[in-house]
Amino acid sequence: MNKDNINLIDTHSHIDMIQNISIEDVITNAQKNGVNKIILPCAYPADIDKIADIVQKFENVYAYLGVHPSEARDWNDSLLEKIENIILSNKKIVGIGEIGLDYYWDKSFNDIQKDVFIKQIKLANKLQMPVNIHDRDAHKDTFDILQENNDGSTVIMHCFSGSVEFARECSKAGYYIALGGVVTFKNAIKMKEVAKDIPLECLLLETDAPYLTPVPHRGQENQPAYVRFVAEEIASLRGMSLPELAQATTENAERIFKF
Ligand code: NI
Repeated sequence: MNKDNINLIDTHSHIDMIQNISIEDVITNAQKNGVNKIILPCAYPADIDKIADIVQKFENVYAYLGVHPSEARDWNDSLLEKIENIILSNKKIVGIGEIGLDYYWDKSFNDIQKDVFIKQIKLANKLQMPVNIHDRDAHKDTFDILQENNDGSTVIMHCFSGSVEFARECSKAGYYIALGGVVTFKNAIKMKEVAKDIPLECLLLETDAPYLTPVPHRGQENQPAYVRFVAEEIASLRGMSLPELAQATTENAERIFKF
């Protein structure tokens, strides 16, 4: 039990990629800081089996399965069946992710990214599971594809990086918006505005560990325990207490993932 009894959930954390500490220590540190559940996203097709194993081993770790847009050229359609079969036999997989569009690193295969994105949205719809969305420099296409293709899956905009206007568009569409360490950066004016503006019932917390480490640990490797700093910053921006913010965001996550 943590010292002040808060209950947080890190809804997107690559704990399998943290190098400086073991997964056991990652989980212990998280619990000491009130972070009681962690959701591990899948990026690479080659990691699907490993991630399915990790969630069986650690009680408070859950996962999304999917292929990241940057890896879309490694997609093949047999992955649909593979992911579906694992999900049907593994109750700790709580969504499809991370899926979406990334035009930041490489724009040369946008069409493949879109195709792989749509196929995975359809899989989530078939399995009635949430989608955890990666959108980098692709807000319009990501939103349009979701609006056109998604039939009933809860949408979570992971590591939201858009404007206040885009956040409003997303929340109006019923999407959840997950914020991470960037909101603690001094120069992240736009993200602080988003954190203040979005309806509380749309808000989720995440770290995207080992990346995007929040202040005051910026520059070090990120870990789920640090979602607490994200929560503290957003609570202070919104004029709420940390326990209030923790409770509201945790209830949102529990409503989506039913855990
Ligand atoms: Ni990620």
